[in-house]
Amino acid sequence: LQKSVVKDIGLAEAGEKRIEWARRHMPVLESIKEEFESTKPLKGARVAACLHVTVETANLITALVAGGAQVALTGSNPLSTQDDVAAALAARGLHVYAFRGENEKEYYDCIKKALEISPNVTLDDGADTIAIVHKEYPELADKMFGGCEETTTGVVRLRAMADDGALRYPVIAVNDAETKMMFDNRYGTGQSTAHGIMNATNFLFAGKTVVVVGYGWCGRGFAMRAHGLGANIIVVEIEPRKALEAAMDGYRVMPMSEAAPLGDLFVTLTGDINVIREEHFLLMKDQSILANSGHFNVEIDIPALERLAATKTEAKENVTEYRLKDGRRLYLLAEGRLINLAAAFGHPPEVMDMSFANQALSVKYIVENGRRLDRCVHPVPVEIDRRVAELKLASMGIRVERLTPEQYKYLHSWQMGT
Ligand SMILES: NC(=O)c1ccc[n+]([C@@H]2O[C@H](COP(=O)([O-])OP(=O)(O)OC[C@H]3O[C@@H](n4cnc5c(N)ncnc54)[C@H](O)[C@@H]3O)[C@@H](O)[C@H]2O)c1
Repeated sequence: LQKSVVKDIGLAEAGEKRIEWARRHMPVLESIKEEFESTKPLKGARVAACLHVTVETANLITALVAGGAQVALTGSNPLSTQDDVAAALAARGLHVYAFRGENEKEYYDCIKKALEISPNVTLDDGADTIAIVHKEYPELADKMFGGCEETTTGVVRLRAMADDGALRYPVIAVNDAETKMMFDNRYGTGQSTAHGIMNATNFLFAGKTVVVVGYGWCGRGFAMRAHGLGANIIVVEIEPRKALEAAMDGYRVMPMSEAAPLGDLFVTLTGDINVIREEHFLLMKDQSILANSGHFNVEIDIPALERLAATKTEAKENVTEYRLKDGRRLYLLAEGRLINLAAAFGHPPEVMDMSFANQALSVKYIVENGRRLDRCVHPVPVEIDRRVAELKLASMGIRVERLTPEQYKYLHSWQMGT
């Protein structure tokens, strides 16, 4: 078993400093780590974790190891690995197989290396490990306690597997915990997507027209932040209730074909495929910017852009210029991969604190209960979700109101009316 594959082990010290900075801003995960250190609830767990290799993830891995788990970590996107973090974890002696800029084969080879620890828990951000286990290593599936899934797209894939009767072990949809989705997807993606776009381009949001494609948790968060920076927002949605919400939040709502000629910046956050495609590129203004913050690089139809382009050049780091035959230039950021992780740091640690507290407690839950659970997608137990909220509030010095006995009785009875 190869110990690790990272870009440059010499980056370890720099990585440790940044991991420590994040640790200081993740108090909930820190308290769980301390509890794990004394109770060792993950003893005997072998975790194959396929996550964005960031400073926050490093702190999650530290907590799992403190709990007694053996962990092998790989990146969950070819452009999201922070090489100094991978180096720091490798220098600690952990199994890490991740470097920024992996090609597709290298990406999957890394996941396969992690499977050499014979995991009994998988931890995914996008369901790639689970998919490989099911397709290529079915013998591993039978030994699993279960898995955890971090993101919306992964949960969608897993539900499709469960509906097909193909899912061979139970999985916790960590993404769907309220203390994950409402904060990570909305405030985390909202802020870090703007950060990634600004890093890549130094784009001025004020006065620009920004087209937000998808008004789910991520889209709402990004629209809110872009609006706060002074942009005029257009929302493109397929779901009538979300479209209505966007309209009443004060944004223009229209189909992509109408938004295409109006936007200065287009950002996809749908989890869907080809939401911006040839017919839209043909309508866009010169120097329109295209970015994606959804999980996979399929939301913008890049093959169509390649076909339409007379030339393709690197305008600057993370910006590819496609010059169309009529001379218009369209700028694609970070090869259409998650812009917030490819061109910025990803979500702030304060937000990942809650997401990864849910992960850590869900891994513990899977280790303790996985064998008894049905082979389907399970929610994070509500006690875990509430506990994460309570710990986060306490860390922020916020106290909440308590029901009086009279109020409790009132809220649990049907006798009293007007
Ligand atoms: N960048 C990140 O760090 C990050 C963080 C969390 C989630 N994600 C990813 O972002 C994506 C969105 O996640 P979410 O939690 O907001 O999901 P969500 O389900 O809450 O929202 C997605 C929205 O897109 C809409 N949509 C689907 N197809 C569309 C189309 N063709 N045109 C317009 N709208 C369309 C859906 O109706 C839905 O409202 C997923 O791929 C998820 O995995 C990324």
